[in-house]
Formats: sequence, structure tokens, C-alpha cells
Amino acid sequence: MFLRTLVQAGVALLTSISITRAVSVFEDNLDTTEAGHIEIQSKVHNATGIRYVKNSGICETTPNVTQISGYINVGTNMSMWFWFFESRNSPEAAPFTLWLNGGPGCSSMIGLFQENGPCLVNADRNSTVLNPYSWNSLSNMIYIDQPIGTGFSYGTDAVNSTEAAAPFVWTAFQVLFESQLFSKYASREFIFATESYGGHYGPSFVTYFEERNALIASGDIDAVPVVVSALMINNGWYDPLIQNIAYLNFATYAPGYGQLQPDDVLKNISDSLYGSDGCVAQENACYAAGTSTHSNKICRDADNYCINNVFTPAVGDYDSYDIRQNSSALFPPEYYMYYLRKEDVMKKIGAQVKYEECPNAPYEQFVKTGDDARTWLPQLSALANSGMKILIWAGDADMNCNWLGGHASVLAMDWYGNETLHNTPFTNMTINGTPVAAVQNVDNFSFARVYGAGHEVPAFQPQAALEIFSQVIRKEQLHSV
Ligand SMILES: *[C@@H]1O[C@H](CO)[C@@H](O)[C@H](O)[C@H]1NC(C)=O
Ligand SMILES: *[C@@H]1O[C@H](CO)[C@@H](O)[C@H](O)[C@H]1NC(C)=O
Ligand SMILES: *[C@@H]1O[C@H](CO)[C@@H](O)[C@H](O)[C@H]1NC(C)=O
Ligand SMILES: *[C@@H]1O[C@H](CO)[C@@H](O)[C@H](O)[C@H]1NC(C)=O
Ligand SMILES: *[C@@H]1O[C@H](CO)[C@@H](O)[C@H](O)[C@H]1NC(C)=O
Ligand SMILES: *[C@@H]1O[C@H](CO)[C@@H](O)[C@H](O)[C@H]1NC(C)=O
Ligand SMILES: *[C@@H]1O[C@H](CO)[C@@H](O)[C@H](O)[C@H]1NC(C)=O
Ligand SMILES: *[C@@H]1O[C@H](CO)[C@@H](O)[C@H](O)[C@H]1NC(C)=O
Ligand SMILES: *[C@@H]1O[C@H](CO)[C@@H](O)[C@H](O)[C@H]1NC(C)=O
Ligand SMILES: *[C@@H]1O[C@H](CO)[C@@H](O)[C@H](O)[C@H]1NC(C)=O
Repeated sequence: MFLRTLVQAGVALLTSISITRAVSVFEDNLDTTEAGHIEIQSKVHNATGIRYVKNSGICETTPNVTQISGYINVGTNMSMWFWFFESRNSPEAAPFTLWLNGGPGCSSMIGLFQENGPCLVNADRNSTVLNPYSWNSLSNMIYIDQPIGTGFSYGTDAVNSTEAAAPFVWTAFQVLFESQLFSKYASREFIFATESYGGHYGPSFVTYFEERNALIASGDIDAVPVVVSALMINNGWYDPLIQNIAYLNFATYAPGYGQLQPDDVLKNISDSLYGSDGCVAQENACYAAGTSTHSNKICRDADNYCINNVFTPAVGDYDSYDIRQNSSALFPPEYYMYYLRKEDVMKKIGAQVKYEECPNAPYEQFVKTGDDARTWLPQLSALANSGMKILIWAGDADMNCNWLGGHASVLAMDWYGNETLHNTPFTNMTINGTPVAAVQNVDNFSFARVYGAGHEVPAFQPQAALEIFSQVIRKEQLHSV
């Protein structure tokens, strides 16, 4: 569901830019306390603006905590859904955090309603309960559905790769930071938090933002800098070559959980990995093909081969997102999807289309370029090398983007801290004496393996996830409390 690579053939296997600023009354059927429509004419993009609803009363019911939901127009016929929550504490000083789920093509409402948002939806699918471990206890939070076509976003989807996705997300922040509604957040600490396919999005988008910032600094473009101060990625898909090999290692011995598949299955997976035209050879061919046009097919083929012959047999009947559950996994529940499709809820929050968690259309666009089989480790390495605050973390019961593969990826990073990271032993991070994660710190870089958590870490270990988030916000190395 969240790393959509793994859904095939319809079968879910896993499944100073502003020139004019006109504020006008937004004529709509919105049944809310405050709604508006801001047009923003920018030098870089035409047809931009925000349509929003303020304080819908949905989800965040803590008194006096402002929320805004609606659409950012990031181009002609491109309506990108966002949902913003002020921090429950010190909103005037708290940082500004973007949360993005993966896919590609999955909605960030997954994170909002199942992981780290202000509320959870009850089993009646019609009511919510406050989440005491919501990340907006510590930070202003914005959740964005991208690319277009994902979640509540709608219109023309022009995105067929991770690289192509970045400018639209950058434009979204141009529009937000030019508006009176959000301009005050442009100078806050900006934390980029993402999951799963975010192992592609995070390194790529942050690199793109920095390239734009350099063009702004040199006077080549006139725009608002988007300065990311910390990047956190849990259960990310960074380097497919390394992470496909990790499927075999994880199935052979998942630390804490044991051997997952019988020897004959492991033997077959090994043959499929290391055979003459196997997964490793095909992934290497994909990397070697670079960004040439013919690379699309090479990478697509590699992806299909590795999914069918390595990933699928390695997972077997486990829930790939939590090996403690089988393929009929019930946690975290999907109640929120039904809630978001209720007409009264949609009307209150200003949603204009039926909610789709992980629709096929945006995903299929990425398939065309074989994006899933490509690596973003060089970009991640460069960011680590620059001294940026980075946390790479993973729930230890997730197989899909398992921590062995995440750890092997960071050990392969080419950066100044490489040698030190290799020589740094894991230590337990505890909360009131209970171990919650095995961690490594090198300067501003940290890795954490979170105990007893699947893919959606904050859903399984909300307290540990919030504590870890707080330490990242304070730019601290991960430590016991
Ligand atoms: C935006 O629209 C104006 C007026 O139609 C046009 O002159 C300008 O070139 C457009 N800018 C961009 C970046 O497309
Ligand atoms: C909410 O804001 C109102 C108006 O500023 C104030 O009277 C009230 O005490 C606040 N409530 C809480 C719980 O902070
Ligand atoms: C859903 O909740 C609303 C508002 O709380 C209530 O009026 C309505 O009766 C509920 N509907 C169902 C089917 O429970
Ligand atoms: C807007 O996007 C939708 C969805 O892709 C498409 O059906 C429609 O034709 C587009 N409209 C315009 C004016 O481009
Ligand atoms: C291993 O692969 C062979 C050849 O594809 C197949 O016949 C056999 O059933 C596989 N064994 C297992 C245990 O999956
Ligand atoms: C999955 O586990 C549940 C609970 O243990 C069990 O009832 C169900 O039959 C299992 N489903 C499959 C497909 O193995
Ligand atoms: C991906 O999109 C770009 C920009 O629209 C286009 O030039 C390219 O041909 C597309 N690639 C594929 C494989 O469809
Ligand atoms: C770590 O981050 C801080 C705050 O951003 C920065 O001042 C410092 O130079 C960084 N450390 C390294 C070793 O890059
Ligand atoms: C990182 O360090 C390890 C262990 O010392 C070494 O084997 C590896 O080649 C280094 N990798 C890079 C990219 O520098
Ligand atoms: C760390 O915690 C884990 C999980 O509770 C435990 O198995 C392990 O022994 C601990 N390691 C150390 C060095 O204390």
C-alpha cells in the first residue's frame, strides 16, 4: 500500500516572487467557519494560489489549535491537497515540519491518520480520538498529497519520476510562503520528514530545494528560499541494489524474529539475486544506464524481476510491513479511509474529490521511467557530507524497507563520516529504562532501529517516535531519557 512498487497487475502484493496578491471571497459550497481563496501571481509559475478552509473542527479538536486544509494550485489544473496543523505548544516559535508518505502515489493522510497526526479514527469510522503523541505537540505540521492524483489531490499529473516531482513540491512552498497565511513559517526551522518511497523523495527534493536556494542566492531566480534544517526518513527505499540483497538477508535471519523462509526458498532467492542475469546484475545495469532514455526499460525490467523473484518469495505470507502479522494484517486499521469519504467530512475540510489512498494512475507514471529501481544514495551521501541533521530510522519488524537494507545503505554512503560510522557500535536508547531503539550517532547523522515497530513506525511506537522527533528538532544526537 505504501511502497507501491510492490503492487502489480492490479494485485496488491504489499501491498520575492509575489507580484500581486488578491484576496477574494471563495464562493463554494463549503460549510465552515472560515474559508478563503488567495491568488498568487508568481514570477516562476502562473496560475498559483490557495483555496482553504480554516478550523474545520475535523481531527484536531484541541482548543485554540488552528488548522487549515485545502488546495495549493501548483500549475494550471493542478490542485495539490494540504492539511496544516499549528503546534499545540508554542506555535509562534515551534518549527515547521513537512510530512510526506511514499508510494509513489500514496497519500500523506496515511501519516496524518495512522501515524503521527492529531487524531485517530475510531472503529465506527465516523468519529475521532485525539492522539496524545501527535507530532504537532512539538511542531507546526503540514501534510501534502503529491504528486497530483494522490489522496485528495486532483488535476493534471505531469510527474513520471522522483526528479520530476520535486519542482511541484517546491512550488507548493513558494505559494505557501508568499501567502499571509503561511509567510511566517518561511523563516522557521524546516524539518523534512518522510517514509518509505521518501527514501527517494527526501534526498531528491531536499537536493532540488538547495539547488534553487543557490540560484536565489546568486540572483539567477527570484523566489523564496526553502531551507531544510533536518531530514528524517523512516523505512526508506534508498538503494534498490543494496536493499534487494537485504531481502535475502532478512528472510534468512531477521534479528529478533529469526529465520523467515525455509532453506529451499532462500536458495531460490539467492539464485535469483546472483544468477548471471539476476536481480543484482540487472540492478547494476540500471545504475550503469544512468538517465539515458534506454535506461527506462532496463530499470523497469530490473524492478519487475527483483520484485517477482526476490521480494515476493522473501515475504511469502507475511505482511511485508510487519512480519509479526500475516497478509491479512489488521493494524494499523484503515478506518480513516471511510471517514475521509464521508460527505459531511469532505465538505467541512474542503475536499473536492473522493479520497484515494494509493491510486494507480500516479504510480503507473513512475513505472514508465523505472524510477523504483534507481538509487538516491549519492544525494543522501552528499547531504550527510554537508553536515545536515539527518536521521535514517526503521521499525525492526518491517520487511518491505527493512532496517538491514537501510543500515547497509547508510554504511555504503560516500561521506566524511563513513569510517567513523563503520566503527560506531549500536547502543540502546531507553525511555525510563526501557530500550526503544538501537542507535548510532556520528556528528549530525543518526541511524536508529526501532524495536517492536513495523513500517509505519509512529503507529506502532508512538511515544518512542515522538521522543526521537523531539531530539531531531533540538538537533541532539539520539540518547536515552
Ligand atoms: C504568466 O502569465 C503572463 C500573462 O499571461 C505571461 O506574460 C508570463 O509569461 C507567464 N509566465 C510564465 C512563467 O509562464
Ligand atoms: C482559547 O482562546 C480564547 C480566546 O483567546 C481564550 O479565552 C481561551 O482561554 C483559550 N482556551 C485555551 C484552552 O487556551
Ligand atoms: C456520525 O457522526 C455524526 C456526528 O457526530 C452523527 O450525527 C451521525 O449520526 C453519525 N452517523 C453514524 C452512522 O453513526
Ligand atoms: C484537468 O485534469 C483532469 C484530470 O487529469 C483532466 O481530466 C482535465 O481535462 C484537465 N482539464 C484541463 C482544462 O486541462
Ligand atoms: C525454486 O525454483 C524452481 C525453479 O524455478 C522451482 O521449480 C521451485 O519450485 C522453487 N522452489 C521453491 C521452494 O520455491
Ligand atoms: C492471519 O492471522 C490471523 C490471526 O492470527 C488468522 O486468524 C488468519 O487465519 C491468518 N490468515 C492467513 C491468510 O494466514
Ligand atoms: C516523462 O516525462 C517527461 C516530461 O513530461 C517526458 O519528456 C518523458 O518522455 C516522460 N518519460 C516517459 C518514459 O514517459
Ligand atoms: C551540525 O549541525 C549544526 C547545526 O545545524 C551545525 O552548526 C554544525 O556545523 C553541524 N556539524 C557538522 C559536523 O557538520
Ligand atoms: C567506508 O568505510 C568502509 C570501512 O572502512 C570501507 O570498506 C568503504 O570502502 C568505505 N566506503 C566509502 C564509500 O568510502
Ligand atoms: C538492547 O535492548 C534489546 C531489546 O530490549 C536487548 O535485547 C539488548 O540486549 C540490549 N542491548 C544492550 C547492549 O543492552
